[in-house]
Amino acid sequence: MKILVTGTEGYIGARLAPWLRAHGHEVAGLDTGFYREGCLYVDPLGMPYGSSTSYKDLRNVTPADFEGFDAVIHLAELSNDPLGQNRPEITFKINHEGSVHIAKAARDAGVRRFVYASSCSVYGVGAGEFLDETSPTNPQTAYAQCKVLVERDLTPMADDRFSVVFLRNATAYGPSPRMRFDIVLNDLCALAWTKKKIAMVSDGSPWRPIVHIEDICEAMRCAAEAPSVAINGEVFNVGQTSENFRIREIAQIVAHAFPGCDVTAGPPSQDNRSYRVSFDKIASKLPGYQARWSAAMGAEEMRSLFERIDFTKETFEFRAFTRLKQLKYLQRTRQIDDDLYWSHR
Ligand SMILES: NC(=O)c1ccc[n+]([C@@H]2O[C@H](COP(=O)([O-])OP(=O)(O)OC[C@H]3O[C@@H](n4cnc5c(N)ncnc54)[C@H](O)[C@@H]3O)[C@@H](O)[C@H]2O)c1
Repeated sequence: MKILVTGTEGYIGARLAPWLRAHGHEVAGLDTGFYREGCLYVDPLGMPYGSSTSYKDLRNVTPADFEGFDAVIHLAELSNDPLGQNRPEITFKINHEGSVHIAKAARDAGVRRFVYASSCSVYGVGAGEFLDETSPTNPQTAYAQCKVLVERDLTPMADDRFSVVFLRNATAYGPSPRMRFDIVLNDLCALAWTKKKIAMVSDGSPWRPIVHIEDICEAMRCAAEAPSVAINGEVFNVGQTSENFRIREIAQIVAHAFPGCDVTAGPPSQDNRSYRVSFDKIASKLPGYQARWSAAMGAEEMRSLFERIDFTKETFEFRAFTRLKQLKYLQRTRQIDDDLYWSHR
């Protein structure tokens, strides 16, 4: 297939594009490039994409950008809660309106498949039970609200000519050249390596499902390739039911993979985001899909990566590996304006 991936210069996109190519697809990218300064390691198979990436803001796309593609996998957004809360009105412009705009442009260009990167954060707060795709959503932040709104607005667009599928990803972990250390397992691994200590700011009681970046890439590949009847208009949680953990359990798993690392807990958590999620649907209903990773394997993989690249505290703290830090830097230096458009264009 000929697939356009938005967000190829981000954490998941930088792994997804080579993953799809390795499975025989022709891939092009689209991204505004907020985090291009960050490259944790060189992936000989993956980066750079050069001429196959179009550096463009998703708010400015037109159907011409999608001509000739069989499928679009849409990842490009402001990608976490703190980023979304920074200026919620911009989050709504990019994540909600921008994503609907992209889907309409793709449909008008004759693209037949649209895969949307949603998030388990739509569940927001659970009472401890396992939430599934039929459970009510309860978004706690602008970021999560936008995911709910995009799902709501794209669902009626699904028809015989345009298949739409929503993948509600758990929180990702694992290596990517465009690394993020603002997501839980990656952050804890970096703390374990650089400080030999994980000092949790809270008691680590909230529940969070987590999933390896490669298992997300595989879900996206399967969603792009599946017969329309299996996926059109469907929502799939992406992860494994066995991979729901309290944050303090993730800290223990990480400490186990980094010998000599201590874990200390803080006061009761102020974070009201806590949810346990069932991933039974994707395991049985998304054709060809099988998740392969566990958090313990992922923590070991991170330790091997840090050894290989001689990972340091300076690299950990580099702004481009923390999404909000990088955007604030680009704004402070006026490289991007208040609406997050590049100033030099
Ligand atoms: N990483 C996770 O844990 C996770 C979990 C659930 C869902 N998701 C979703 O998956 C997608 C990708 O996440 P990620 O972790 O790779 O995020 P990321 O921040 O690393 O990548 C997002 C990319 O989108 C680009 N982008 C942002 N605004 C844009 C705009 N206006 N125009 C064009 N490009 C723009 C950025 O430059 C960046 O390269 C996001 O939609 C995110 O919400 C991620």
